[in-house]
Amino acid sequence: MDRLLLFPDTTKIEQDVLTIGGCDLASLAETFGTPLYVYDQATLDGAAAAYRQALAEAYPGPSGLTYAGKAFLCRALAEWIGRQGPWLDCSSLGEMTIAQAAGLPPERVLVHGVNKSAADLEAARRHAGVIVVDNLTELERIRRLPRPLPRLWLRFRPEVEVETHAHIQTGQSESKFGMEADEILQAARLCRREDLPLAGLHFHLGSQLRDPQPARQAIERTLALAAALDLGGEWSLCPGGGWGVAYHEDDLPQPDLAAYVRAVAEAVVEGCRRRGLPLPRLQLEPGRSLVARAGVAIYRVGAVKQTAGRRWLLLDGGLADNPRPALYAARYSALPVQGATRPPAGPAWFAGPYCESGDVLIAGLPFPDVAAGEWVAVPVSGAYQLSMASNYNGACRPAVVWLAEGQARLIQRRETPEDLLRRDLATEDGG
Ligand code: LLP
Repeated sequence: MDRLLLFPDTTKIEQDVLTIGGCDLASLAETFGTPLYVYDQATLDGAAAAYRQALAEAYPGPSGLTYAGKAFLCRALAEWIGRQGPWLDCSSLGEMTIAQAAGLPPERVLVHGVNKSAADLEAARRHAGVIVVDNLTELERIRRLPRPLPRLWLRFRPEVEVETHAHIQTGQSESKFGMEADEILQAARLCRREDLPLAGLHFHLGSQLRDPQPARQAIERTLALAAALDLGGEWSLCPGGGWGVAYHEDDLPQPDLAAYVRAVAEAVVEGCRRRGLPLPRLQLEPGRSLVARAGVAIYRVGAVKQTAGRRWLLLDGGLADNPRPALYAARYSALPVQGATRPPAGPAWFAGPYCESGDVLIAGLPFPDVAAGEWVAVPVSGAYQLSMASNYNGACRPAVVWLAEGQARLIQRRETPEDLLRRDLATEDGG
């Protein structure tokens, strides 16, 4: 069944029940409640290994991975990063705090942000190995920080457009991110004058990409800039992240990760050779393609409702834990947790319980006849769902469970209504 290919590597149907990492999803839903998010460690390990192998095969210079923590970050995931070896991209003091709690050494923490606060910069100075500088004002602020400073990379806006949803394009000319070529030259002059540790260039074109061609073009523009800057023999180049994943069976086959890494590596090698530049450390910065397929969301069908032309499955989660369909028109798929091999009984619309017509998780998916009380599993739920989850309608954020070698470990407990009250203060008269 094609739909199963969207699920984690260890997924099986055993006695008609979906299992992941040797754990039966019905028992997990029973034990931990729903909505429940599970992460399969074997799939995470496999994705990191696929990147490492692709880099080792395609790039002759030094290379590495930085995981973009914005895709999903909690202590357990940061600890996994610690064991696996990538660096961690943090975009706020909050994410840096998680990195520290997980014991990541500063040299493996890289800090991003389009408008870093004074607190972000101070934390980065103490706890990061690299700051990616977004703009000249920020560089001025960094200049005034006490030394020593982390290495600085400059974020270039290469003015290359990519084919993806408008909300997740970042490298085009009107984007709010990074600096244009003239500003990069200006920033580099300031670094030289003030003896700031300029050590690399960065760009990021966008997210959920399937075509490596725009990355090649952006690399060409970045190398042209590097040639004008004289960054020395040991410099780093980061072409960001952005490689996509299939969310729906119609998106299969999976975008070819090795082909993407090869295209990037070739463009760097070839462009450096032509310009007589030393090969940079090539640092890739994936988020989604490392974690998306390892995550699965499990919901309980609370009611089934028929309206004009639509069979609605009303779930106990939706918009609050996954705003992606509403924000990016993302198309998901699903399987029943039990009886997954039942034939479809026509299309189904999956909606959450929130007071919002846009709270539709999946629209028109061929799906078996399911009854209230059954569980459904939504694959490819590991990236940008929990990290963008909200408390809309007083929703409590889901529990998260880590699956490895037949064991299920709670890594984030379910939020409670008491958690929602924790930062609220009564008015003075108590009313
Ligand atoms: N590096 C930088 C500087 C980024 O801004 C991002 C993502 C990444 C790396 C990782 O990109 P990835 O490999 O995950 O595509 N909320 C949206 C995605 C926003 C991406 C923001 N930046 C979504 O749910 O699709």
